[in-house]
Amino acid sequence: MKVLIATDKPFAKVAVDGIRKEIEAAGYELALLEKYTEKAQLLDAVKDANAIIIRSDIIDAEVLDAAKELKIVVRAGAGYDNVDLAAATAHGVCVMNTPGQNSNAVAELVFGLLVYAVRNFYNGTSGTELMGKKLGIHAYGNVGRNVARVAKGFGMEIYAYDAFCPKEVIEKDGVKAVDSAEELYKTCNVVSLHIPATAETKNSINYALLKDMPKGAILVNTARKEVINEDELIQLMEDRPDFKYITDIMPAANAKFTELFAGRYFSTPKKMGAQTAEANINAGIAAAQQIVGFLKDGCEKFRVNK
Ligand code: 3PG
Repeated sequence: MKVLIATDKPFAKVAVDGIRKEIEAAGYELALLEKYTEKAQLLDAVKDANAIIIRSDIIDAEVLDAAKELKIVVRAGAGYDNVDLAAATAHGVCVMNTPGQNSNAVAELVFGLLVYAVRNFYNGTSGTELMGKKLGIHAYGNVGRNVARVAKGFGMEIYAYDAFCPKEVIEKDGVKAVDSAEELYKTCNVVSLHIPATAETKNSINYALLKDMPKGAILVNTARKEVINEDELIQLMEDRPDFKYITDIMPAANAKFTELFAGRYFSTPKKMGAQTAEANINAGIAAAQQIVGFLKDGCEKFRVNK
């Protein structure tokens, strides 16, 4: 059996070593395709792979067509919007993610971005503090929970909205559960996005939702760029010079944001919420173990396609 790690954005070496150990202990072979620049390289590498570990790498019908021996794809991470699930199902390929394994890393980056923003991007001028501010967590999954945990240390007042998580579950963590996204945005000085990119959420963070945020509002996006309606966010930031947007997923209109909103817009050059050795190890090794469990014992825990 051949397991391929195909990562445009490579794991830390220590994580690759850990994955290799798991795969070789199971008697399988590990192949590595990192930092590929052309899709053709991926199409070539998947030809004889029985299993693939990916991150945000795109697995579409063309890749699945090329991967004639493929049985399983594991997205080492949470969001699997980069995998064509219907095509995978049609090809008889199991798709899994590794929920929770990289969530602390993403949550920590939220605060890295936030401190940077409230201290005016470290330009030497007087900024503000997070203590006592109202933080809204939009979607209370694994990352959202970790954000709440860290926010307590900062002394923030924490609110959350999650259409799929019962209010009692949120409130058990000492977080105030609100009834709607509208209420969350109206209430909170800072909103941190943790919604997945789905047909329902794409473009859902729009002018109407953001316009009622309190003065000096900050939107932090470590989720997906697709959930933002970029044109409307640009309009809103033009209308509201007090509004800041910070993200680790560069918007399509990055050049425009940079030009128009100097001092209140920041994006990392690459998506890097989960880019820590620990997250790479946790998610990478979980992916390797899930592959071994699936290939050896047919274990389908964490399968996300039918
Ligand atoms: C995830 O969905 O797990 C995060 O967005 C991290 O993605 P990455 O592995 O591409 O950094």
